[in-house]
Amino acid sequence: MKINEQSHIVVLSNAGGTGKSTTLEALRQALSRVGTVDIVDLDPQKTLTHTYKLTKKKRPLDPSEVKEGDFVIYDTPPFFFEYEKSLLKNCDIILIPFKVGRKDLVAFRPLFDLLQETKTLTKACVFINEARKPHTNLFKYLRKLFLEIYDGVFLCENELSRLDSFADILYSDMTEKALGQFLNILKEISEKKNVPQTIKKSFIEASKICYDKNRNK
Ligand SMILES: Nc1ncnc2c1ncn2[C@@H]1O[C@H](COP(=O)(O)OP(=O)(O)OP(=O)(O)O)[C@@H](O)[C@H]1O
Ligand SMILES: [Mg+2]
Repeated sequence: MKINEQSHIVVLSNAGGTGKSTTLEALRQALSRVGTVDIVDLDPQKTLTHTYKLTKKKRPLDPSEVKEGDFVIYDTPPFFFEYEKSLLKNCDIILIPFKVGRKDLVAFRPLFDLLQETKTLTKACVFINEARKPHTNLFKYLRKLFLEIYDGVFLCENELSRLDSFADILYSDMTEKALGQFLNILKEISEKKNVPQTIKKSFIEASKICYDKNRNK
C-alpha cells in the first residue's frame, strides 16, 4: 500500500504505567507491515530508547531528525511536557491507554482538560488496557461512568486484557491473542469519525495483513 501523507500518532496518558510504551511498540509492529515507521521518544525515562538498544530495534529519532516517511509515533512521559500542546495540535491522532478503576477515573481529569483546551478531543482515542474481569458489573459501571464524566471522549468498546504476551512485546513479537485484541482496537478506531483517511486505510490494511499472516502460520 502506498501512503502519500505522513501520519503523526501520539501515545499519551498523564498517568504512569498505563501501557504507553508497550502500545507504541505494538503499533510499530503493526504499522511496519504497511509502511515506514519512525519513533520519537519524548519520555525523559527513555524506556523505548533503552529497550530498543537492548533488542537492537530501530533507533528513536529526535523530532528534528524526522524526515519523510509514512508514520511517526511519539512516546510521551506520564506528565505534562514542553511542546505537548503544539504536538497535540499538530498530530493526526492521539492514542490513550487507560486503566479503569475509581482512582483512574479521577486521574483522567487533567488530561481531559488539556484535550479540551487544545481543542484536540476529537483526535483522542481511549482504550482500556489491562482490563480485568471486563464482564463484571463493576467494570461495566466504571466504563459507563467514564463516558458520563468525560462527555465527548471516544472510548473503544474493545479492550486489551492483562496478557503476559502483550507485556513482553518490547522484547519479542506479539502472540496471536495479544495481536488479535490490539488489531480489534485499531479496526474500531479506523471506523471512528474524524480519523484521517490515510490512518483509517493503514489501520485496516495493517489488521488485514496481520490476520492473514497469522492465519497462514
Ligand atoms: N495489556 C497488558 N498486559 C500485561 N501487562 C501490561 C499490559 N500493558 C502494559 N503492561 C505492562 O505494564 C507495565 C507498564 O507498561 P509501559 O511501560 O508500557 O507503561 P507506560 O505508560 O509507558 O509507563 P510510563 O508512564 O512509566 O512511561 C510494563 O511492565 C508492561 O509490560
Ligand atoms: Mg513509557
